[in-house]
Amino acid sequence: MTVLITGAAGFIGFHTSLALIEQGLDVIGIDNFDPYYDVNLKKARFKHIQSLPAKSKVQLFDMSIMDAELPELCRNNEVKQVIHMAALPGVRGSIARPLEYLKINIDGHGYILELCRHNPQIERLIYASSSSVYGHQPQEKILQEEDVNNNPASLYAASKLSDELLTTAYANLFDLHAIGLRFFTVYGPWGRPDMATWKFIESIMAGKPIRLFNNGNMRRDFTFVEDIVSGIVGAMQQRGSGHTVYNLGGGNSINLSDFVAVIEKALGKKAMLEKVAMQSGDVMFTHADISKARRDLGFEARTDIVQGIAKTVAWHKQQQALLTNV
Ligand SMILES: NC(=O)c1ccc[n+]([C@@H]2O[C@H](COP(=O)([O-])OP(=O)(O)OC[C@H]3O[C@@H](n4cnc5c(N)ncnc54)[C@H](O)[C@@H]3O)[C@@H](O)[C@H]2O)c1
Repeated sequence: MTVLITGAAGFIGFHTSLALIEQGLDVIGIDNFDPYYDVNLKKARFKHIQSLPAKSKVQLFDMSIMDAELPELCRNNEVKQVIHMAALPGVRGSIARPLEYLKINIDGHGYILELCRHNPQIERLIYASSSSVYGHQPQEKILQEEDVNNNPASLYAASKLSDELLTTAYANLFDLHAIGLRFFTVYGPWGRPDMATWKFIESIMAGKPIRLFNNGNMRRDFTFVEDIVSGIVGAMQQRGSGHTVYNLGGGNSINLSDFVAVIEKALGKKAMLEKVAMQSGDVMFTHADISKARRDLGFEARTDIVQGIAKTVAWHKQQQALLTNV
């Protein structure tokens, strides 16, 4: 079976590509190397995929999800499933550059929906939504899929909510089988330089201060990237129809100050803390109820935060060498 992975040079798309290639599936990976963060890291991820012994047919392209040649590429290769990870991520960028986010995250998602609609050999679309769709909640609670209250805290969140709505309309109108996965703060090796985990680890290693928003009084459900990938693989096997969304989270919520302590312990080094105010667009807490994904996708958050951070720190310690070899 051939699978199209969009955003394959991105953090989650890259790990998904590795897992599917390992399973012997044929993979077409596309990415347009958006300069949202260091393009060398994205190139290094592609290079790493290409360096692996070929177990299956792997084709990687510098291509946008809006490229006119994408439908033909899918037809010629009889793509059966689309895993759509390409997007502009991050809450803060969406506040600074809303139009770019609307174009890539909403229009771009529309292109992928059209691709699936007009290519009958595509059996299923799996796409990345986000915990940010839960927005500001009236009180702290474990978030179930139906808790979305159409009260997004950022334009990024609004773009992901829009994707979910558009997908429901396509499923209703065109019998599309689609699965939306609401990822909760993903971390791990080959991560994203704009995210807290990367920034905290790199700053502590370099002896630089880290900025703790809202004085560290914020709770996040962190999910190890290998667990996210196992949820994506579960979604590829889900029997069903129409459009369904699932939380993919660690199923635990941790205070940011405690999260820093886990990193300090893994590095054997204390952080220099700079406590700063809450940022616009942030929410106070995230905590996923993962029972629906457990039931339908066989999803399990197997990696606890101490194990996951240990693996992530180990990668950061050797990543300079990886990146300078690009
Ligand atoms: N990492 C997280 O914690 C997290 C949490 C919730 C949701 N998500 C979502 O998961 C998906 C993957 O996130 P990630 O962390 O891997 O981000 P990422 O930025 O590392 O990966 C996204 C990739 O998409 C590519 N891309 C952007 N525009 C493109 C276009 N027009 N055509 C082709 N490729 C394009 C980028 O170059 C990038 O490599 C995104 O949709 C993101 O919004 C991520």
